[in-house]
Amino acid sequence: MRLLLELSGETPEVARAEARAVCLAEGNGFSEPEKNGRALVFDTDVEPNVIAGRLALAWSISAYHVSCELMDAPSMVQEMQLPGKTFRVTVRRLGGHYSPKESADIAGKIGDILSRKYKVDLENPDAEVRVLLSERCHIGILLREIDRSPFESRKSENRPFTHPISLHPKLARVLVNLTGVSKGHGVLDPFCGTGGILLEAGLMGMKVMGSDIDERMISGSRQNLKHFGVEGAELRLCDVSEITSQFKTVDAIVTDPPYGRSASTNKESVESLYKRSFDSFSEILKPGGKLAIVLPSEEHVKFGLENFTLCEKYPVRVHRSLTRYFCIFEKSIQKLP
Ligand SMILES: C[S@@+](CC[C@H](N)C(=O)[O-])C[C@H]1O[C@@H](n2cnc3c(N)ncnc32)[C@H](O)[C@@H]1O
Repeated sequence: MRLLLELSGETPEVARAEARAVCLAEGNGFSEPEKNGRALVFDTDVEPNVIAGRLALAWSISAYHVSCELMDAPSMVQEMQLPGKTFRVTVRRLGGHYSPKESADIAGKIGDILSRKYKVDLENPDAEVRVLLSERCHIGILLREIDRSPFESRKSENRPFTHPISLHPKLARVLVNLTGVSKGHGVLDPFCGTGGILLEAGLMGMKVMGSDIDERMISGSRQNLKHFGVEGAELRLCDVSEITSQFKTVDAIVTDPPYGRSASTNKESVESLYKRSFDSFSEILKPGGKLAIVLPSEEHVKFGLENFTLCEKYPVRVHRSLTRYFCIFEKSIQKLP
């Protein structure tokens, strides 16, 4: 099935990677015949509802019809088949390539052509034709708007146990998704803090395991997970080096370690903490498993390279003026001698 995804504007590169990782986790393939700014055209065998239920960085998902230059769009919809009898056209301008006037004009022209076969209903149409104006014009039939309000409702300040160290839920969700895990897989956060990452993994049906050196964080995580209905989490009070004795092998590690400023390292240098963390991660992660980690700078990537292969690295603005590196490492599958 060919789909058209409207990506959120913050970090389109990460949004594309997230869509790819989710399709590969839930199905048997993914290809991108057309990627254009915030519009992603892709082929997948995964149900659109499953994709929409997992993604953090997308706004809408449509059944794909065509990609073309703006001037060709009216002729491209002449043969378009819509489900039902009524329709409306909605246009999204992505990235400021076209003016509001051009957007209104194209909606009108497409509407005129389709109204030869179907009736316009702006309130409650059988089909919504979704036009994404990136550098090019992409047209599909809307399947689902992706409701992003639940991510806001899970923000740190809306949890029973709150602490400013926690990532925004949509970023926590993206990190989990980038590891390519699916329902039933075991996900560990060895610096779990208030449980924000575990919460997102648990809500997608993963088996969650978390640990932290601070007792308040462990009881806070327990409270937060319970509040949002995530059950069965294994939580341990321990230093990161002890995870290997506290948990069995895990499918993925997703974590946002302390940076030595607001998130304390208990006076240990960040370098030393990261070195021993990567050692423990490599021991407990299954071969071929992924580690998604937020690093304070590109410099810190080197600590992972002794034990892992770096697959992806994205600068991501986590707060207004703070950029972190979202890195995805893979533990190599060791070949038999
Ligand atoms: C940036 S915060 C994690 C935030 C978390 N993602 C959340 O949603 O709240 C880092 C956490 O690492 C914990 N920590 C610091 N040093 C540690 C160590 N040596 N072993 C385990 N946890 C440690 C801190 O207590 C803190 O909760």
